[in-house]
Amino acid sequence: MSKTWRPATQLVHEGTLRSQYGETSEAIFLTQGFVYDSSEAAEARFKGETDGFIYARYGSPTNDMFEKRMCALEGAEDARATASGMAAVTAAILCQLKAGDHIVAARALFGSCRWVVETLAPKYGIECTLIDGRYLENWEKAIRPATKVFFLESPTNPTLEVIDIAGVAKLADQIGAKVVVDNVFATPLFQKPLELGAHVVVYSATKHIDGQGRCLGGVVLSDKQWIDENLHDYFRHTGPAMSPFNAWTLLKGIETLPLRVKQQTASAARIADFLAEQKQVAKVIYPGRKDHPQADIIAKQMSGGSTLVAFELKGGKEAAFALQNALDIIKISNNLGDSKSLITHPATTTHKNLSDDARAELGISPGTVRLSLGIEDAEDLVEDFAQALSKVKS
Ligand SMILES: Cc1ncc(COP(=O)(O)O)c(C=O)c1O
Repeated sequence: MSKTWRPATQLVHEGTLRSQYGETSEAIFLTQGFVYDSSEAAEARFKGETDGFIYARYGSPTNDMFEKRMCALEGAEDARATASGMAAVTAAILCQLKAGDHIVAARALFGSCRWVVETLAPKYGIECTLIDGRYLENWEKAIRPATKVFFLESPTNPTLEVIDIAGVAKLADQIGAKVVVDNVFATPLFQKPLELGAHVVVYSATKHIDGQGRCLGGVVLSDKQWIDENLHDYFRHTGPAMSPFNAWTLLKGIETLPLRVKQQTASAARIADFLAEQKQVAKVIYPGRKDHPQADIIAKQMSGGSTLVAFELKGGKEAAFALQNALDIIKISNNLGDSKSLITHPATTTHKNLSDDARAELGISPGTVRLSLGIEDAEDLVEDFAQALSKVKS
């Protein structure tokens, strides 16, 4: 790897392994196992005396290329590619904990992430305290002698709240706990949790990294020591490995990540400003706007806005459904980070399992809508909103 390469160059070239055929595009190594020249060679490989692959559940060439490219982008020493974002989150949290340990997590989490810390972890004797993560004093107050992990996503899904990662990391360092950041909404381009002091970063590669709605994937990144001491054995023996076919698809996706995210962010900023002017809209939340409640933290820790916009319609669920149903280009889907613009109504989809009170705490009202911008022409998207909003009562 060249330390002088900028991200757009790293994302096209970093980690490439060429076979004897000298292929331009990275090859897919769809193999479960590997052969050895001799029994001695097999023994040496298993002893760790020689480099090389052993079994695809442990690692394989296409996955290795994807992991190296992600490490370069993130500034991480090591990584493991997983079958989905949830496999990455679950592995990153559980691999370092045992019964009796305690997690502090921001309550504004993607539904499945919240289930892992709130419902799954306690079954194994790992307690979790959920807090309003926007305020550093809440992290401090929740600390117990057994606290080992702080877990957060920022910006959050779906209301784009922001958490002070450097502040949380400082608290964690004081007690020797590890900060795990789900960086999906920020993208690896706009926020660097490891530079801010976090210890572990996870992605659903399903989102912007694929970016074209094709396959699931995830990745856990950290320093080599943390991976060796925590994730290495967990990963080998519980089997969350990514399929090499998906690693190849994601390697191709990641080449165009900067182009897509730039376009999506520009469109998000344009649409956020447009929506803020509309009489049917009560509120717009966009990390790139000056009126975001945490604009000061955003300026400190993010180098770009977001590819997502959250907004609230005055007419509640009825208005949200009418808007979604009237849109033409923008499709109704709970996914995000796709090259197609996607819209979802969190209260009836991604966050439907939360109680009304829990949704209210997170700022999700019946009129809240989450929009993930694609790479279409922004003016076509504005026109689509204009025609759809004309069918929504104010
Ligand atoms: C913030 C966040 N984390 C994790 C995930 C889980 O990713 P996956 O669907 O790839 O398992 C998602 C998926 O929507 C997400 O939005």
